[in-house]
Amino acid sequence: MGKPRDYAEIYAAWQGDPGTFWREAANAIDWMRAPDTIFDAAAGSYGRWFPDGLCNTSANCLDRHVAAGRGDQPAIIYDSPLTGSKRVLTYAETLKEVEILGHILKSFGVGKGDRVLLYMPMVPEAAIGMLACARIGAIHSVVFGGFAAHELATRIDDALPKLVLAASCGIEPGRVVHYKPLLDRAIEEAHHKPEACFILQREQEPAALVAGRDHDWGALRARMMAAAPGPLAPEPLLGTDPLYVLYTSGTTGKPKGVVRDNGGHMVALHWSMEALYGVRAGDAFWAASDVGWVVGHSYIVYAPLLKGCTTILYEGKPVGTPDPGAFWRVIAEHKVKALFTAPTAFRAIRKEDPDAAHLSKYDLSHFEALYLAGERADPDTVKWAETKLKVPVIDHWWQTETGWAIVGNPRGLGLLPVKHGSPTVPMPGYDVQIVDEGGKPVAPGKMGSIVVKLPLPPGCLPTLWQAEERFKESYLADFPGYYKTADAGFRDEDGYLFIMGRTDDIINVAGHRLSTGGMEEVLASHPAVAECAVIGAKDALKGEVPLGFVVLKAGVSATPEAIGRDCVKLVRDQIGPVAAFKTAIVVNRLPKTRSGKILRGTMKKIADGDAWTMPATIDDPAILDEIASALEGAHKPGG
Ligand code: COA
Ligand code: AMP
Repeated sequence: MGKPRDYAEIYAAWQGDPGTFWREAANAIDWMRAPDTIFDAAAGSYGRWFPDGLCNTSANCLDRHVAAGRGDQPAIIYDSPLTGSKRVLTYAETLKEVEILGHILKSFGVGKGDRVLLYMPMVPEAAIGMLACARIGAIHSVVFGGFAAHELATRIDDALPKLVLAASCGIEPGRVVHYKPLLDRAIEEAHHKPEACFILQREQEPAALVAGRDHDWGALRARMMAAAPGPLAPEPLLGTDPLYVLYTSGTTGKPKGVVRDNGGHMVALHWSMEALYGVRAGDAFWAASDVGWVVGHSYIVYAPLLKGCTTILYEGKPVGTPDPGAFWRVIAEHKVKALFTAPTAFRAIRKEDPDAAHLSKYDLSHFEALYLAGERADPDTVKWAETKLKVPVIDHWWQTETGWAIVGNPRGLGLLPVKHGSPTVPMPGYDVQIVDEGGKPVAPGKMGSIVVKLPLPPGCLPTLWQAEERFKESYLADFPGYYKTADAGFRDEDGYLFIMGRTDDIINVAGHRLSTGGMEEVLASHPAVAECAVIGAKDALKGEVPLGFVVLKAGVSATPEAIGRDCVKLVRDQIGPVAAFKTAIVVNRLPKTRSGKILRGTMKKIADGDAWTMPATIDDPAILDEIASALEGAHKPGG
């Protein structure tokens, strides 16, 4: 019998015998002790993958490729139009840097199971930091640079890091992001105090160091290099030992710490590189995201290195650094085979260069495919990219929680016909179902909640950091036997999935995941605000943007404009610029049902200029007219 080859055969092979499928996939990983047990159904909340295997992720990302003769191949190409610099790190050099930092971390007493928080811009040291933690068995937790001090403090208090790796600053177009002062404020606010901080001093804005706590990362490195400490053996870790915790927005201001293990993560990501992204060892792969997001963890750092690819670490934007040809320049210069980014990046490029005139300056002959995720890929943008780039444009759908694609078009197994608006079909490992509120499967074409039959495949979260009950309650309780994705959508007659939106308060702003509930908590803390609601309104560039409505307490004397400005500043200060919260409208009342539930869905329809019907349960219909007139002038439907 020949080996199964195309998607249908491979999916059927997985369905028929998941254990054999994942055992074979696990053979691609170098184990210090191969796992006897592929899946232990009795462990954890829904079972655990590769529980008795011993492994190390950094060894699989680096050592094995050096040993296989790839030592001189670029592992990381840092390309930073924002600072006008570039740097190439070969596999051998990356390994050396990871060992040096690993030695330094160990000399500070950091070891297996300790948390290390990273607050870093897109520089190679961010990836080196993550890999050094992986090497010594420390659990990293990267916080995106667009989050403010308060968000950072919340994560410090949840992860309880022993040590922090940070840069003195980040660079955004036209401004310096003051990472170090933000870190200082966060540590001041947090109850937990990390023992030490390593600060990467960037020439754009070196930072003052706090005596006794902060250390100049460069000086520590120079001292360790001078001591010539030699190689650093990778720590043997169980497949189930955590590799990292990545916080993502939940339905309250308290973020969820998504846990990722070592074994399953490696197996799934390695499998995805060839099957889904169609790349092999030696190819250049570029995920134009940020190391602070899951896309950055999985597809800037871990998956390309596990596969032996060259990964591009891009510190720039799709437009303005310096022009809308920036992506084509990077693809051409570094011979990128596959690019992964969010649709919003392509909307930004198209807006500035609708005819893609900049494309003609570059040779993209080796470029094979564009992958989009992070938000719904609107068919207009997909068609534009297809026409201009003349390569497959592949939408795929996943979440921070899963770590890799739930639904995609596995180009490496043979590209399936693309249907605009659909990320195509479930990947092996995911039994995706569309169900009604009672958990019953719905007919093709009918909208419902999208759920995944348990167990989740390798690579997906086994739990939330120190919050098993919250994990079960958030994901497993509503549909027993299934993982709730909190996305809604439908499946067509051909089995293609269509993802239409979230069933909770999460919105996607320029591909960044945010909670409107979290923003409401911030607005409610304003002394003049009695009540508030935040909705995600359609935006032509960012997909969605948050819109705030606030009702003031009696007797407030400040003008509505001043309060609005205050609210905008408060969200920026508390959550961060990434929230892109620019509009807070003062209204007299909020529309509610008779039982007091705010009618956010109807408010959204009004803001988007969509057709809406009067909810039967509304308390006072006149309030919706008030909302409509408050929106006039403050917000243009579609952005
Ligand atoms: N550190 C600090 N601030 C950051 C930041 C970071 N790493 N990333 C973004 N910000 C800031 C921006 O400077 C901006 O601040 P401003 O309000 O002072 O202008 C704010 O956060 C909002 O950022 P964003 O929503 O990204 O808008 P933008 O106007 O800066 O850029 C795009 C718009 C479309 C060009 C940009 O969103 C983009 O490149 N997106 C690519 C998609 C992506 O990376 N998705 C990640 C998941 S795949
Ligand atoms: P994040 O955890 O930041 O990756 O965000 C995950 C959420 O983004 C999903 O639950 C979806 O709501 C949305 N999302 C991601 N990719 C897609 C896609 N391809 N199509 C539609 N929505 C998507």
